[in-house]
Amino acid sequence: MGSHRIAVIPGDGIGPEVVAEGVKVLEAVAGPAGIKYDFTYYDLGGERYLRTGETLPDSVLAELRQFDAIYLGAIGHPDVAPGILEKSILLRARFELDQYINLRPVVLYPGVETPLKDKGPQDIDFVVVRENTEGMYGGAGGFHKHGTPDEVAVQTSINTRKGVDRCLKFAFELAQKRQKVKKLTLVAKTNVLTYASNLWFRAFEAMAPRYPEITTDYAHVDATCMWFVKNPEWFDVVVTDNLFGDIITDLGAIIQGGLGVAAGGNINPEGVSMFEPIGGSAPKYTGLQVVNPIAAIAAAQLLLEQLGEAGAAAAVEDAIKKTVSRDMKSMAAGHMGLSTGQVGDRVARYAAESVSSR
Ligand code: IPM
Ligand code: MN
Repeated sequence: MGSHRIAVIPGDGIGPEVVAEGVKVLEAVAGPAGIKYDFTYYDLGGERYLRTGETLPDSVLAELRQFDAIYLGAIGHPDVAPGILEKSILLRARFELDQYINLRPVVLYPGVETPLKDKGPQDIDFVVVRENTEGMYGGAGGFHKHGTPDEVAVQTSINTRKGVDRCLKFAFELAQKRQKVKKLTLVAKTNVLTYASNLWFRAFEAMAPRYPEITTDYAHVDATCMWFVKNPEWFDVVVTDNLFGDIITDLGAIIQGGLGVAAGGNINPEGVSMFEPIGGSAPKYTGLQVVNPIAAIAAAQLLLEQLGEAGAAAAVEDAIKKTVSRDMKSMAAGHMGLSTGQVGDRVARYAAESVSSR
């Protein structure tokens, strides 16, 4: 309960369309749950960059630090070279705000089609805890003799004991909180990355005795890709480094029904967290009202959870499940049987009903 200051960054492409639906749902649960929001919009993204050359100005970053949460649509523009906006807006926000956890639930909602044969909602329900500030994303490296036939490119993975420990601690605590089988799987590549993965493994083994009720497991990242497809029911909480987490969560997204449903939170447990649908800006669909806003709405649900609004968050989850199972033909853009706005309307209506009846 209470009043929350939320920064909204609709961003590029379909970002504004899906964020509008997430805000619609947040507003729908507000009254019945006794919540108040104070939304402030920021026009960060490709359009602003093309117009002014600005990506994430220091003054905006300073303002973002003052919010209770940040709600982000998508960053990425067809007229801007790849890497610029990603690095200077999305990754910079994650790093500067020290959002050291990227939390990505992989949940198959009832009625949603998965490409996995003979698997259903009871099989696909786990969470990936991706380290979000280090590893290969740390930016360490460089070129030597750039552009010559003797060119050398080096890119180094940074893994600090503190960074690894705080990520593992979050994952162990999440495994304890979740009402599943209380299992935590470390994903790395100890057979090849005998420094980086070795540090993760030792830190994991050292921390495990503090959580005696958690069953621990280890899987190589390549094998994990196989098991996400073959035996997703084996997983409860998965913890891994930044790049492995990036890769396996795209696989996670597709087994839960695609980028139209996958959401994530960039969490700083002691600071400001940022929530986003994990699909991109999908420029070709911009303004057509055909993309699936469920991922953005699920991101809003994670935001409510982070703000401590458990009742409202549960109502949104309930409403998402109703909408996808009763009202939507498909999770794919252009095949939902409803427009982006109509999907948001349904979720908003069910969520308001659900929260009032609690
Ligand atoms: C993600 C994205 C980003 C990442 C890109 C856009 C920089 O793929 O959020 O998973 O690699 O983290
Ligand atoms: Mn990614």
